[in-house]
Amino acid sequence: MEGVVQVETKKISEILRKDHLEEDELIAELLSSWDEEKFSRFFDNLKKHIYLEEEFLFPLIHGNELIIADLMRQHAIMWRLLEMIEKDREQKLHQVYSTLLVHNAIEESDIYPQLEELDLVIKVKEMPSDWKPLFYS
Ligand SMILES: [Fe+2]
Ligand SMILES: [Fe+2]
Repeated sequence: MEGVVQVETKKISEILRKDHLEEDELIAELLSSWDEEKFSRFFDNLKKHIYLEEEFLFPLIHGNELIIADLMRQHAIMWRLLEMIEKDREQKLHQVYSTLLVHNAIEESDIYPQLEELDLVIKVKEMPSDWKPLFYS
C-alpha cells in the first residue's frame, strides 16, 4: 500500500477475511515445514493487517469495547511471540496458530459485520516502519 489510499469499509472487510484465510494457510505450512521467506511473508502481512485493524477500523466500532480490548491484547502478544521466533519456534508457532483461530473467528462474527454495515470510505495510510500494536510493551 503506497502513500494514502481511499477504501470502502465493505471492501476492507473482504480484504481482511481473505488475509485470515491466507494466515491460516501460511501458518499451517510453516508448522509442517519451516521456511524463512514464508515466515517473513506471514509476519509482514500480519503486521499490516493488525495495523489496519487497530489504527483505522477498530476505532469505528462502538459497543464492543471489551472484545476489542481483548483482540488488541492478542495482537500485541502474537507480535511479541513472532519477534522472538528464533527460540522455541514450534511452540510459539502453535501458540500463534491457536490464538489466531479464536481471534479471527471473533473478528469475523462480531466485528467485521459492523464494518460492512458502516458503508464508509476511509483514508488508509501506509504503516510506519516503527509502528507497534497499542498494547505492545
Ligand atoms: Fe486482529
Ligand atoms: Fe483480523
